[in-house]
Amino acid sequence: MQGRPHRGGARGDNTLMARVYVTRALTGNALERLRAEHDVTVWDGELPPPPERLRAAVADVEGLLCLLTERVDRELLDAAPRLRAIANYAVGTDNIDLALTRERGIPVGVTPDVLTEATADLAFALLLAAARSLFGAVADALAGRWRTWEPAGWLGADVHGAALGIVGFGRIGRAVARRAEGFSMTVRSTADTPLDELLATSDFVSLHCPLSAATRHLIDAAALRRMRPTAILVNTARGGVVDQAALLDALREGVIAGAAIDVTDPEPPPPGDPVYSAPNLIVAPHIGSATRSARARMTELSVENLLAALAGRPMPHQAA
Ligand code: DGY
Repeated sequence: MQGRPHRGGARGDNTLMARVYVTRALTGNALERLRAEHDVTVWDGELPPPPERLRAAVADVEGLLCLLTERVDRELLDAAPRLRAIANYAVGTDNIDLALTRERGIPVGVTPDVLTEATADLAFALLLAAARSLFGAVADALAGRWRTWEPAGWLGADVHGAALGIVGFGRIGRAVARRAEGFSMTVRSTADTPLDELLATSDFVSLHCPLSAATRHLIDAAALRRMRPTAILVNTARGGVVDQAALLDALREGVIAGAAIDVTDPEPPPPGDPVYSAPNLIVAPHIGSATRSARARMTELSVENLLAALAGRPMPHQAA
């Protein structure tokens, strides 16, 4: 379904009103600031606009506010000849052909910092849940399988004092490291330790690198075999950083003890995908940044990025 057009109000400067397309309803109030200055249309479907609808919608727009569910590729950019600013409602940019946007001089904005702590919280929640087999234990209780207090029932792994290996030591990786200190964990990262060594010596491995050609399938069958058989893999980065088929094999064969992933490849996995039935695997639906405040701040940053670029100013948070 096509969103309704929202007309902008009086302008405070002499920048021309631009047509802007927003690919989903967003939380928070910041879109009102965009509507006050520009002619904004919001796709009001619950699912992302299908690519052909999106291409038709951007035919005459100058600004695009999109999500990680939209592929901003050559086909889309060719369909948007007037486009001069893109705000990605994410810190990751793997959905956007940045080489092409650069070539065409279209700035791309992102939403760093505001989701760092929320994503680190979720990474740690997954780590704890996987270590203590929390979802299996709760499912057993709810299904009436809690018959007594069992000395050998629902045993998990210690988190306190364990070795945590962080792959990608940017904002979110460092935020996870801060949490780990509170659990007296030994923390190392790819910033100080070669990946192979990190994998071989960690009880928990948490992924926080962006997805790029260099990191696609960074964690493949060989990398998984380097990990300890008792180790747990946590992925809140991007599904493509892990070779998912290799991960499922590793879990079935006991190569590693478990995994907890907030991201998959593809996303979402189709109904019946083996990812939903693999042993010792927790799957969350890409909710790393899903707190009320983080998502509202992401809207604000996206709007600030668009307003700046449409007024001819540098975006406050432009992708590198
Ligand atoms: C991002 O921002 O890249 C996350 O994956 C979604 O918040």
